[in-house]
Amino acid sequence: MPVLVEVGENYRIDMADFEAQLEGADAVLISHMRGHTSDMDQIMALAEARDIPIVEDAAHSLGTLWNGKKIGTLGRVGCFSFQSYKMLNAGEGGILITDDADLAARVVIMSGAYEHNWKKHPVLAEPFSRWQNKLPLYNTRMSNLSAVVIKPQLAELEDRCTRGLRNHDHMVEILNGSGFFYVPPPLPQETRAPDSIQFNLKDFSDDEAHAIVMELKERHLGAQIFGMSTDNARAFWNWQFLPAESIPGGDLPQTRTMLKRACDVRLPVRLTLEEVEAVGNAVVDAARAAKSGPQSVAAQ
Ligand SMILES: Cc1ncc(COP(=O)(O)O)c(C=O)c1O
Repeated sequence: MPVLVEVGENYRIDMADFEAQLEGADAVLISHMRGHTSDMDQIMALAEARDIPIVEDAAHSLGTLWNGKKIGTLGRVGCFSFQSYKMLNAGEGGILITDDADLAARVVIMSGAYEHNWKKHPVLAEPFSRWQNKLPLYNTRMSNLSAVVIKPQLAELEDRCTRGLRNHDHMVEILNGSGFFYVPPPLPQETRAPDSIQFNLKDFSDDEAHAIVMELKERHLGAQIFGMSTDNARAFWNWQFLPAESIPGGDLPQTRTMLKRACDVRLPVRLTLEEVEAVGNAVVDAARAAKSGPQSVAAQ
């Protein structure tokens, strides 16, 4: 059964809760959201001390570095997405990486290498033949078409990450300087690879939080507050497929509070600094309008 862990300071995993939830865990699934990461030194040390494997969901963090090493290469398994909102875009598709030969053979077969299709690649013959016909096939192969769309983009990854970080950090200066928002700094070991920006609303009422989304919409900026929009997929209380026991104590109050003020705006890496500045100024302007709207006057 999956068990969720609370968010702690600065949007990152609450390490005390993480350690408490490790008791009896079979595996750790870390989701590195939107080009950011939590403290991987602590996470790895705590999991390794208990011999618990780490699976890194780096679907949206391709290019993020931890201590100079690529996120997704630290745990037993790393997963990356090439879906259309990601740093490399094939429309759909993704890859899983591991340096565990046995695991690699199992996932390739389960992804749909039926009969002897694995023989097309002259690698891992021993583990492939050992697992032949012993596993169900889920047919989640990435198509050849997606692969050819991705291949030439690989050479662009570094440049996209550099531009994404430049755009993100320029936006952070504008937002943190406005007094309306707070974007936490990176950890010293972390080099982010963002293509969007998340910022916390500072001292906003619920009405003001709703108002800023409307104000942003009027300025043609699609934004969401994870915990305020209906049915948002990042709000854990909307995950009706989870057994109740997956949420220790029935709620994650710190995470709930954070999500209710965490705003998300896309910041495509192709934007110029001037365009980023225009987006940043529009966000600050929207906050000013939301704060001075009729609902905030009524609340005073
Ligand atoms: C953190 C994270 N995990 C998993 C996924 C799913 O990736 P895909 O749509 O390629 O299955 C996404 C994509 O939105 C994501 O951002």
